[in-house]
Amino acid sequence: MAGRKPLISGNWKMNHTHLEAIAVVQKLAYSLSPADYERAEVSVHPAFTALRSVQTLLEADNIPIALGAQDVHPADSGAFTGEVSPVMLAKLNVSYVIVGHSERRQLFGETDEQVNQKLLAVLKHQMSPILCVGETLEEREAGQTEAKVLGQLQAGLAGVSAQAMGRVVIAYEPIWAIGTGRNASPEDAQAVCKAARSALGERFGTAVAAQVRVQYGGSVTPANISALMAQEDIDGALVGGASLDAEKFAQIVRW
Ligand code: 13P
Repeated sequence: MAGRKPLISGNWKMNHTHLEAIAVVQKLAYSLSPADYERAEVSVHPAFTALRSVQTLLEADNIPIALGAQDVHPADSGAFTGEVSPVMLAKLNVSYVIVGHSERRQLFGETDEQVNQKLLAVLKHQMSPILCVGETLEEREAGQTEAKVLGQLQAGLAGVSAQAMGRVVIAYEPIWAIGTGRNASPEDAQAVCKAARSALGERFGTAVAAQVRVQYGGSVTPANISALMAQEDIDGALVGGASLDAEKFAQIVRW
């Protein structure tokens, strides 16, 4: 992680009502110390319905946890029933927005082009996108992991300037490792994160690539986080299931 401040993010997916979300953040804030926040940046990504409640709590109690969203629509406003705009998120002081999560791609048919539009919208409103990329089990077994990940990176980052890359976070999430309890080995995860960084280097220059944070996601737990974080090109984690529980998530943040 050479000079890059790690980012540990909790993606709560479609879990926790706003009341439960408040309780988790309160417990998390109680567990984490200034030294923990010094060592790593922490973000939580509640459902849209809990964003305002969590924002209010973080700001009222001066809790140095960044607020994140799980998705966004690319347009500023308009006739898009059910969608949430980047303007709305920015107004809630959202710092990080996940784009292109594999569940959005697989279950809701999001394309690379849509993911790219979302990413550009997040940047336009001065927030940081967390761009998710990752291969299926079939792709891994067919030796197509790098091609898939680098293709998603290339497409997702279309139109992004080298300067804006300073705000982009990449999350490598092999699909077969998400919610399965089967995480990628630290060495396999490192190999893909390294390949991603080197592709970023070719596109934006090595100095820019050297400061981009690359997270690993997929069945991250208190038991496997240390070995993942020991890898040179892994700069944090995007945690699903284990982030729902404040104590487990705090243990991951303290790896
Ligand atoms: P799990 O940690 O539950 O495997 O989920 C990973 C993930 O999809 C985070 O975005």
